[in-house]
Amino acid sequence: MARHLITSAIPYINGVKHLGNLVGSQLPADLFARYCRARGHEVLFLCATDEHGTPAELAAARAGQPVAEYCAEMHAVQARIAEGFRLSFDHFGRSSSPQNHRLTQHFAVRLHAAGLIREVTETQMYSPTDGRFLPDRYIEGTCPNCGFDSARGDQCDNCTKQLDPVDLINPRSVISGATDLELRETRHLYLCQSRMKDALAAWIDSRTDWPVLTTSIARKWLNDGDGLQDRGITRDLDWGIPAQFDGAPWSGMEGKVFYVWFDAPIEYIACAQEWVAAGKGSDWERWWRTDKGAEDVTYTQFMGKDNVPFHTLSFPVTILGSREPWKLVDYIKSFNYLNYDGGQFSTSRGRGVFMDQALEILPADYWRWWLLSHAPESSDSEFTWENFQASVNKDLADVLGNFVSRVTKFCRAKFGEAVPAGGDYGAQETALIDRLSARIRDYAGHMEAMEVRKSAAALRAIWVEGNEYLQEAAPWSTFKEDPERAAMQVRLALNLIRLYAVLSGPFIPDASAAMLAAMQTGDDGWPDDTRAALETLAPGHAFSVPEVLFAKITDEQRADWQERFAGTRG
Ligand code: 2FM
Ligand code: ZN
Repeated sequence: MARHLITSAIPYINGVKHLGNLVGSQLPADLFARYCRARGHEVLFLCATDEHGTPAELAAARAGQPVAEYCAEMHAVQARIAEGFRLSFDHFGRSSSPQNHRLTQHFAVRLHAAGLIREVTETQMYSPTDGRFLPDRYIEGTCPNCGFDSARGDQCDNCTKQLDPVDLINPRSVISGATDLELRETRHLYLCQSRMKDALAAWIDSRTDWPVLTTSIARKWLNDGDGLQDRGITRDLDWGIPAQFDGAPWSGMEGKVFYVWFDAPIEYIACAQEWVAAGKGSDWERWWRTDKGAEDVTYTQFMGKDNVPFHTLSFPVTILGSREPWKLVDYIKSFNYLNYDGGQFSTSRGRGVFMDQALEILPADYWRWWLLSHAPESSDSEFTWENFQASVNKDLADVLGNFVSRVTKFCRAKFGEAVPAGGDYGAQETALIDRLSARIRDYAGHMEAMEVRKSAAALRAIWVEGNEYLQEAAPWSTFKEDPERAAMQVRLALNLIRLYAVLSGPFIPDASAAMLAAMQTGDDGWPDDTRAALETLAPGHAFSVPEVLFAKITDEQRADWQERFAGTRG
């Protein structure tokens, strides 16, 4: 039995994520995890909230809450929404966990011992009024480029120019508004990534099967002019993992915490420890330590393209640089962006559909199907309401839903609510079984390769086979001359519903469960033998006609939603 460790990039804690975030990491990771489980593999699927850094502190301040309290609440909100989307994490952890505190500090000590951490003295803005150094985002002022009066220390939101806090005209503290800011010397820890450049380049070159999107971004960062520079891994913040602690091999780091991008990926490991601490598992080292059984684990990470540099370069430096036998990622599946109706999703402007809103208007499967079948794999893709309506109505309602409803209702009307007998499958059925076998192989191949769109297309083609068979076999006509034969055709079609439930589970888990419930059966595993799979429900087996699986989206609904999500979320 193969063992798969699967992680999704961990979403920032500040606020509910939009559908673009969802399709870029959590959802395809869930698809793959469900598929691996369906194939009988052992899976550990982890995700968490990314809770540190200035965005978390600032969001808490805006909400008027202590940051720890804000994070605890938002974690619960995100966990609930993840459940709503049927994201089947084995554990949904928190990067602020005690486990991650310990492990992050542990890695820092190991990296220091390996000579990969050095101390650097810098000048930085200090606010006497606030009694602290101010990170870039805690400083605002007038943009020297466009004159916008609320430009942030790191970037102007008006003209998008990247800034340094010292560039700002009339800089002020975001915390207190104080303007008496001064430059002072301070020390930070730097991770010497540049020293591992050759090792990283060799590793990335050896990953010949990775998506081009992943390797091209990694290579660009490795080789570009200011590519793999040493990076500051501490920040002047209160909220985070303290950089000064018992056993730290340095001094003077009081009041500083590790940079959020240093501790976030370490949470992938800490999350497995949290999973054990929560009583859901018994041995995290089997998944993460190659000296403790993880050498035969296949580790796959899912993420949006903006996260690739951190996962191909910085985090591997942490892992390799520790000189300890941690599991290194085997495959990085990355995604382009999903745009929204002619523009970008925007969290700050409330443009686009956010995960909580999506579930308020339609069940998870509708979204899962559209998002996955339009995943931004080879290029950015775009959500439009027209396209969403068309896909849902065609693929889910007309193709799949209609098949299920026609077959079950016809059977109930002519034979009652039990699988009818009829004779053996004939030539038409054998031809169908052959075509289905080939299509299921196709589907499995794409799922294995994590080709999300191709997998969706292959699954849809499997559904279409059922409709075409029904059209040709036409049991409603056969019934008149040869009721035995019609019974056999319906028996096959009812078995197809069960087969569809099993195959569709990774994409549309609720509909899949509803189909199994209607067929009064469970999911007894992947159909290695299509003919046998289509003989599973024997004559006499009871079933019921399910509720409508997928309702069509009306033009009115579409227009209404289009207007409602155009911008400025409440
Ligand atoms: O881009 C993001 O949403 C980050 N919070 C992802 C972090 S992934 C990893 F490093 F943990
Ligand atoms: Zn500007």
